[in-house]
Amino acid sequence: MKLKALTISTALLAISCTAAFAEGETIGFSQIGSESGWRAAETTLTRNQAEQRGYQLQFSDAQQRQENQIAAIRSFIAQGVDAILLAPVVATGWDSVLEEAQEAEIPVVLLDRQVDSSDDLYLTAVGSNLVHEGEVAGQWLVEQVGEEPCRVVELQGTTGSSPAIDRKTGFENAIKDHPNLEIVRSQTGDFTRAQGKEVMESFLQAENGGADICALYAHNDDMAVGAIQAIKEAGLKPGEDILVVSIDGVPDIFQAMAAGEANATVELTPNMAGPAFDALEAYWADGTMPEKFIQTESKLYTQADDPAGEYEARKGLGY
Ligand code: AHR
Repeated sequence: MKLKALTISTALLAISCTAAFAEGETIGFSQIGSESGWRAAETTLTRNQAEQRGYQLQFSDAQQRQENQIAAIRSFIAQGVDAILLAPVVATGWDSVLEEAQEAEIPVVLLDRQVDSSDDLYLTAVGSNLVHEGEVAGQWLVEQVGEEPCRVVELQGTTGSSPAIDRKTGFENAIKDHPNLEIVRSQTGDFTRAQGKEVMESFLQAENGGADICALYAHNDDMAVGAIQAIKEAGLKPGEDILVVSIDGVPDIFQAMAAGEANATVELTPNMAGPAFDALEAYWADGTMPEKFIQTESKLYTQADDPAGEYEARKGLGY
């Protein structure tokens, strides 16, 4: 009995030591900016997660510029933070600063986007399968149009970012055996609503006022929402005259779907920080090395999936 009591108290001591060890840690977070509703939600959830777990979060908004992210990471290293979260704006150009973090023995966790550096240079990456997201969107369109000819316009994300590269590849994979579907125009809208609208206006003008466009594929919902506005201003019905499929699952796209103005979205969870902090806590506790890629789910929603209810469920979540 005495031995059992001792064992339990030792176990409790071990648990409280682990908790005390993780609490109060300082985390540097280099965020891309606030280009989209999804990004705003990721920032909010990361702040909430840090607060719930008792971490000090040093937040840096890079305003879409890689050089600002590199400067922020160097500053985190100089401060001696316990870990760094990095949502990398583009895929290339990270080797040197990741090596500096590694030399300083600061674990780096990538959030939502990938880099083309060696995976030895970071602890883990949390994100979705970005190619798969594009494939899900493309597959949905293939099923919608059947054998009908369909001229597609594409709004790409930020040039050089992994979601722009991979979502394009995935969509192209899905349509490649369906010659009736053709991407006739493709341009970046930089993941923003304003540029989504502007670029869609130019697509509409170039495509017979929109009469020659069958579908829009946007690499994120914000660009789709901007484009929907442009389609309406051109006197067409988004969701009917031009099908709209995009990625993220933000509240505004569910609202558009409920109104019949968007057709489908592939959800990307903004809670990247939860799995990232779980991985860091296990690593700090006993050196557990996480998988190099912690994959989040990609779920397709259409107008048949209660978009009004999905809007209600998401509207207070920081998007
Ligand atoms: O990296 C994830 C992408 O970045 C989201 O799909 C988009 O909305 C954001 O800007």
